[in-house]
Order: sequence, then C-alpha cells, then structure tokens
Amino acid sequence: MQRTIKLLTKLKISSTLIVLVIVFASCVSGQLGKNNSGEFKNGMVVTAHPEASKVGIYILKKGGNAVDAAVAVQFALAVVYPNAGNIGGGGFMVYRSAKGEVNALDFREKAAASASRDMYLDSAGNPVVDKSLFGHLAAGVPGSVAGMVEAHQKYGKLSWREVVQPAIDLAENGFKITKRQSAELNGLHRKLMDININGTAMVNLESTWQENSLLVQTELANTLKLIQQKGKAGFYEGAVADSIVAEMQRGKGLITKEDLKNYRAVWRKPITGSYRGYKIITMPPTSSGGIALIQLLQSVEPYPLKKWGHNSDSTVQVIVEAERRVYADRATHLGDPDFYSVPQKELLDPVYNKRRMANFNWAAATPSDQILAGVIKGKESEETTHFSIVDHEGNAVSITTTLNGSYGSLVVVKGGGFLLNNEMDDFSVKPGAPNMYGLVGGEANAIAPNKRMLSSMTPTIVEKEGKLFMVVGTPGGSTIITSVFQTIINVVDFDMNMQVAVAAKKFHHQWLPDEVYVEKDAIDSLSTQKLEAKGYKIINRGAIGRVDAILKTTWGAYQAGADPRGDDTALGY
Ligand code: DON
Repeated sequence: MQRTIKLLTKLKISSTLIVLVIVFASCVSGQLGKNNSGEFKNGMVVTAHPEASKVGIYILKKGGNAVDAAVAVQFALAVVYPNAGNIGGGGFMVYRSAKGEVNALDFREKAAASASRDMYLDSAGNPVVDKSLFGHLAAGVPGSVAGMVEAHQKYGKLSWREVVQPAIDLAENGFKITKRQSAELNGLHRKLMDININGTAMVNLESTWQENSLLVQTELANTLKLIQQKGKAGFYEGAVADSIVAEMQRGKGLITKEDLKNYRAVWRKPITGSYRGYKIITMPPTSSGGIALIQLLQSVEPYPLKKWGHNSDSTVQVIVEAERRVYADRATHLGDPDFYSVPQKELLDPVYNKRRMANFNWAAATPSDQILAGVIKGKESEETTHFSIVDHEGNAVSITTTLNGSYGSLVVVKGGGFLLNNEMDDFSVKPGAPNMYGLVGGEANAIAPNKRMLSSMTPTIVEKEGKLFMVVGTPGGSTIITSVFQTIINVVDFDMNMQVAVAAKKFHHQWLPDEVYVEKDAIDSLSTQKLEAKGYKIINRGAIGRVDAILKTTWGAYQAGADPRGDDTALGY
C-alpha cells in the first residue's frame, strides 16, 4: 500500500490513470514467462496471470465448481490483466459438465442501435484509418458482465457475492505486477493519454514501475462492488451505465442507456465434430472459430501428418492449403447468426471439405487469388485472453474473452475505472477492406444495428471415448483458429504432452494476404527452402498465440499447458 501511495504521489495521477498505465502495460511481449506446469488430480486452472490462477484455485478449494471459478477468474483478469481481461468487452464460453452435458454462451459485444453500415467510411466511401480501432466510436456494447451473470445463474454453486469478492480485493488492496507488466507500463503509450485526457499531462511520466510494484484500482473496485450488489443491473443500469453513457457523450460514441439495458448474453448450441476418433466441442457463430476449426481438422484428416512429422514441409504445406481455403470461406460465409444465415451444416460436411482440398497441388502453392469461398448450394491487435478450468467433479470451462486490441479502444470509463473494447473493428467495415488482423469480409459480417461482430475466438473442449480429454483456447486475433488447431494436432498426431504442445512453435496462413507467418524456428531451414521453392511466401513474425490448456491423461491426472509466451500460470491441487 505504501509503495502504491508513493507511486501515486510521484506520478501525481488518479486511479483512473493508473488503470490506463497498467492497461497499456501487458501488451509488449518479451522474455519467456514463468509457467508452472504439472499434474494434479482434483482440479486445475490455467490463465494468463498468476493472480487470476490463484483466484480460480481458491474458489475451487472453497467448494466452487468450474463455472464459479471461471466467473471469479473473469473478474480477476479485469483487474490484474487489463489489456485483455475485462468487464468492458465480451467473449465466449464452452462448457462441458462432468456428466457430458455441453453448452455454449455467447457474451460477445453488439453494435449500438444507432450503428450503421458505413459508419467508418469517409464521403468517398473509403475506410477512415483508426476510426473503428481507437476512441469511443470503436466500442461495442459490452457483454462480459451479462455473460458472467448468466453463466453463474445457470451453473454456479457458490453465491454471486463470493465469486466477485476476490476481484474486488485485488482491485482495492492492489496486486504485485509482474516483470513483464512493469516493462509494459514503463513503455506507456502517448495515444492512451491523448484519448483519455486530451492533453499532455502524462508525457513526462517517469519509468518507475518495477516488478512487484503494487497496483491499486479504487474506481474499478467500486464498479465491481456495484456488480456484486446488483448483478447485471450493477453494470447495465445505474451509476456505471451513467458513466459509460457520459463517456460516450464526451467522446462522440454511440452507446446509450437503452443499448446497455437491452444487452443479453445468449446460450447457443455448441458445434461438434470429430477428428481421428476424438470429439471436438467448440464455439458456434458469432465466432467463426468453431466452424473453421472443424473445417481445418476435416481437411487434414485424410493425410498422414504423424508419418510426415511435426512442422515438416509436407505437414506445413497441407495445413497451409487447408487454412487458405477455410479462411476464404470465413470471409464470405460467417457472421452473426441472428442476422445472417450461416451455412453451418454445409461448411461442416466432411465431403464439402474434402472437395475443397481436391485442387491442392503438391508441386506448387495454390495462389490465394485462385481460391474463392466455396459455393454453398441452396444457401440462403492484439490482445485477448483465454482460460481453462476443470473442477474436482470433472466439469470443464473454456473461456476466451477480449477487448479486441490491446487495451481495446483505449477509452477508460471515467469514474468506472475500466476500459472499453474496440470490437467494432471485427466487423467488415467495407467489403474487402482488411481489419486490424488483415481479415476481410463482406455482407455476412457487415455492420448493422444490434448485430454482433464476427469473431475468431475458439474456446474448445475435446472428448475421447465419451470422456473429457482437453480444454483449450488462445488469444491471437486471426491466428486463434490455427493455434487451437495446431495445439490439438500436436497432441493427437504428434504425441506431445500438453505443455510441449502449447509451447511448440506455430505458423499461420489466412488466405489473404497470401503469406505464411512463422514463429522463429518453427520450420527448419531445409523445409523452408522446399516450401519457398514451391511458391510459399514465408514470413517470420513474433509469438503466435498464448494457449492455456488442460489435458486429462489416461492415468486420470490433469496435465497443464501454460503458454511460456506470457506470464501464463497453471495451478492445480
Ligand atoms: O474476436 C476476435 O476474433 C478478436 N477480437 C480477437 C482479438 C485477439 O485475439 C487479440 N489478441 N491477441
């Protein structure tokens, strides 16, 4: 506490600005994070931040189930991992009970009722750079609080008060930031300041953050207390809603009191599919992730990946060609199912996906401009975070949640102490115009009032012989789908344990641009040369994904995969 007061005095900033600072903090990637993997019998929690993992385990040990722990973790991440953990964003949950009942919850943000198709275009019809990315107009109506209330009402065992309390404690008493977060804080971005205080007061911010500095967020604690006392109404009505609307008026945003009051999270039927005898249970639209994941698995299933080896040239080639075709489908056929008739049945048909791979040529890369979305007959930045939880009964929760870009729209709700998302950029602002992840889209994902923007988030649960096998998911924008896909095949085809599968280097292709993005050393130089000779454009990039996963071993233990690319931490008991 003393440390915090000292810092506050030194920096002369309010708690809101402290939030901003932290908020900016966790996006820069750097050294390998500490991760604590191992095997445990009773339960496991894997999240992007050690403090959030501690909260999850605390709730499980207190007698809470996986959903209680997930709700507590979601709120805790909003405090300790504010670049992606959130109450001002949205996400998806895939659930499997110990008895095998499955469900999926869509708490994705929505466009405001006054949103319109061309709202990010200038008078010449061109997208205005950054308009859907930064500031108040970039924010969709948040869904996370409604989602947590809904999940807890349906499946929770402990009281609402008990599951929200740990986050309040973390916000009120402060928590020690990690080394990674301190580095990120010290690299505070000017734009964050400009958007929130319209001035230069923060320019001279000193680089005083260190590992273990205490971060206290009083305004956020007060917001969480209102959520604890009043549930959904504590956020979507009353003082917090008033602050969001005042913030919108200040920054010419669109979200109104009615938008907030009308927001509902929606239960949806999970997508299921099979891969080499395993059953995949994953997120349906509004995410494209589940459909694309099953399409990818179906596309590669006929090929002997195991024989070819992990990231060998043949394995990479087949996967890249599958990804090219699946992402082309995504761009045309996927959007909010409440607004657009997604041809789900057709896209999930193994015959369709086999046919899509039929024109794949071993001798040369298929140029993406020769690949269009499949014809369906009779058809009518990065920061997100994922966490995986299993409780002692064997109930499992897989949640991916986001503000979209790191720190979302960079708008902190004055008085509320939390950030708003910039999820509107996930819409296709104009047919063919790439979003921040380079993804393109069209009619299916055009902006419309109250519509949900298409996502790639892919929270997934895998069964083997009718029993829980894996809980998996990741952040990473457009790379989410391929990271989840590669993590699953790393275990199923390449016999890796959970931690090795998560840490293994990944690569990614998304149809457009026609490039293969590769983590350093993911593909050896000989395979790279062979692929380049066939016309594949290989581009090295930084980390792909931050997968947090749990595997149930044949000997009945839970095995952790906490991504070393971040501060991700697995705890079990
Ligand atoms: O919903 C989506 O697909 C994106 N808004 C996710 C953003 C993301 O994963 C950024 N993280 N690295």
